[in-house]
Amino acid sequence: MARRIIIDTDPGQDDALAMLLAFGASDQLDLLGITCVAGNVPLELTTRNALLICELAGRTDVPVFAGCDRPMVRDLVTAEDVHGKTGLDGPDWDAPTMELQTRHAVDWLVDTLLTADDGEITLCPVGPLTNVAMALVREPAIAPKIAEIVLMGGGYFKGGNITPAAEFNSYVDPHAADVVYRSGIPIVAMPLDVTHEALMPKAWIASIGALGTDVGSKTEAMLSFYERYDLEHYGDAGGPLHDPATIAYLLSPELYSGKHVYVAIETQSELTMGMTVVDWWGAKRNEPNCMWMTEVDAEGFFALIYEALAKLPA
Ligand code: BDR
Ligand code: CA
Repeated sequence: MARRIIIDTDPGQDDALAMLLAFGASDQLDLLGITCVAGNVPLELTTRNALLICELAGRTDVPVFAGCDRPMVRDLVTAEDVHGKTGLDGPDWDAPTMELQTRHAVDWLVDTLLTADDGEITLCPVGPLTNVAMALVREPAIAPKIAEIVLMGGGYFKGGNITPAAEFNSYVDPHAADVVYRSGIPIVAMPLDVTHEALMPKAWIASIGALGTDVGSKTEAMLSFYERYDLEHYGDAGGPLHDPATIAYLLSPELYSGKHVYVAIETQSELTMGMTVVDWWGAKRNEPNCMWMTEVDAEGFFALIYEALAKLPA
């Protein structure tokens, strides 16, 4: 039976790839809906971008909801320097014609989870954790309904990418990350530690363009735009493709390895705000709250995405 999932997202080109990977694997993943949050760009654009990606994949049947337009406590920080002004710079896009759902994403999350069986639904947040944390705060009874939270965020061994200490998603809403990490729900984290172990080969990006479909050419244009920032920052080896790691793990968990650890979020210090403090050696003897991934079979990861995109309609 296909695994029932919800993607919570702030597209973002790498968010778009997470969605496309899930669409291409619809025989294994039953995507119940997409909830959008402010992050890479403001909410109005992340919702527009989610609609564009559904349309690109021919999946206008998947409901898209707008959620929180700012973090729980702090002001919104965005990342146009990475993703461009629209968040999805690269290809030319027409305005989406698919309609956004009218309900607030947090309301839909709460209702959908409340009516589910225990452990029925897996959440895949690939942006700041605001929507997920708000839903948990509003209705704690949803917690047992969630099988696990497979998220992209954080960084420990490889430090941060928005500050020396913090990764973007946990920096933008550290209070939400704190709620999620203290929720008791099983968490699988795809931090920078693992996403920087799979850098996009140029030939792989070109092979996606060569698929000859609209999905292929738009994806090539998105990734070529997206990777220019990383190449400037991290050198010529290629840019990491963060968010699809969550979906790749659901499809092929054997690609990944890591360790069960206790993770706490810094919410006080401006210097290290949003840092994911990983107790790798169990120094505090806390019960682990997270599977923290550090290694990936990069070749397998890129092959998986290629195969999924190749299945999407022309
Ligand atoms: C994360 O931040 C965003 O810019 C990406 O979409 C990804 O979710 C990487 O730090
Ligand atoms: Ca993202």
